[in-house]
Amino acid sequence: MAKQKVLVTGGTGYIGSHTVVELIENGYEVEILDNLYNSKIGVLDIIEKLTGVRPKFYEVDLRDTEGLARVFAKNHYDGVIHFAGLKAVAESVEKPLEYYENNVGGTINLLECMQAYGVKNLIFSSSATVYGEQGEEQCVEDMPTGRALTNPYGRTKYFIEEILKDVCVSDPEFHAVILRYFNPIGAHSSGLLGEDPNDKPNNLMPIVMKVAAGEISELSIYGNDYPTPDGTCMRDYIHVVDLARGHVCALEKIGREQIQVYNLGTGQATSVLEIIKAFSKASGVALPHRVVERRPGDLAIICANAEKAKTELDWEAKLTVEDAIRDTLNYLEHQDA
Ligand code: NAD
Ligand code: UFG
Repeated sequence: MAKQKVLVTGGTGYIGSHTVVELIENGYEVEILDNLYNSKIGVLDIIEKLTGVRPKFYEVDLRDTEGLARVFAKNHYDGVIHFAGLKAVAESVEKPLEYYENNVGGTINLLECMQAYGVKNLIFSSSATVYGEQGEEQCVEDMPTGRALTNPYGRTKYFIEEILKDVCVSDPEFHAVILRYFNPIGAHSSGLLGEDPNDKPNNLMPIVMKVAAGEISELSIYGNDYPTPDGTCMRDYIHVVDLARGHVCALEKIGREQIQVYNLGTGQATSVLEIIKAFSKASGVALPHRVVERRPGDLAIICANAEKAKTELDWEAKLTVEDAIRDTLNYLEHQDA
């Protein structure tokens, strides 16, 4: 796709904001739509500081069909990158309807608007969670999905992927790229942009940050009796800036096929204990931790096979877990300042 105008839903959120920076730096005109449920308006100031451009912002909820239509009526977008959604796995078990309404309902509204206003290109934030338990070391894009999913959040991602396939069948001019993220961590190298949720953090790295800042007394390691070298779970941690770059590559290649699916990961898995050691080494401070019960639904290892994105999108992760930890610490220092 030529460098044109893109709407980014969820663009003030963690992955969305880093992607907006990369898009602007690559010459795209970007507008953001977000309801600010899990992000702050101040992110726009940071984007402006980093890029010199302040993207137009619409405080709109995807469930507000009229508000959404007003945004599409005012603009012609060449494509949409769709990050907006709820993402807390445990909360999705407690509030499944909220997750289906927000994630699936919100996406249907977005697709209807895109149809009504003739917008034919969509990039969707999916997740490695759609693979469920495969019994293989690495997940490959053509493996079956949607089996043995343990929570409604994961099912929303799976259902949306299936909806996108159906929309592609119904409209031969519609193009979708499904990006399955593994575990995004890290922050922008400036230290200005990072993960700053309004909600209580659920993921490992934001919790590690809170322990390092003394806001949480210790890190609970969810089990050390998994079939991994040190007994703790292993994940494919990917630097958020690498992930953001992946979206720019996907936009450049959208439309080669009607529906394209890619893993965005590094192909390397790191254990919880290795993360703790790397964090302590980089910060020079021991991170208090304690092994507790396994967390229900956790798998021993989740790791990407990232070959397809390398071959077809010309994208691969360049940054390491150590880079991500360094950038996270830098972000933490800027937050304190
Ligand atoms: P985030 O919470 O930081 O960003 C999501 C943004 O969407 C937030 O700014 C939130 O306010 C907004 N939003 C939520 N519901 C909305 C609605 N109905 N209308 C308008 N805006 C709404 O999350 P993130 O980590 O940046 O994740 C972005 C996407 O990537 C999500 O779809 C998430 O499920 C997916 N994903 C994230 C991870 C991860 O570990 N962070 C892993 C795999 C997939
Ligand atoms: N962990 C701990 N203690 C904590 C938090 C996490 O030991 O306090 C462990 C978990 O057991 C897991 C690892 O750290 O082994 C990573 O946990 P996260 O919650 O950060 O991430 P998950 O792998 O469980 O899930 C994340 C996203 C999902 C996405 C999935 C894809 O939250 O949205 O990655 O792999 F689907």
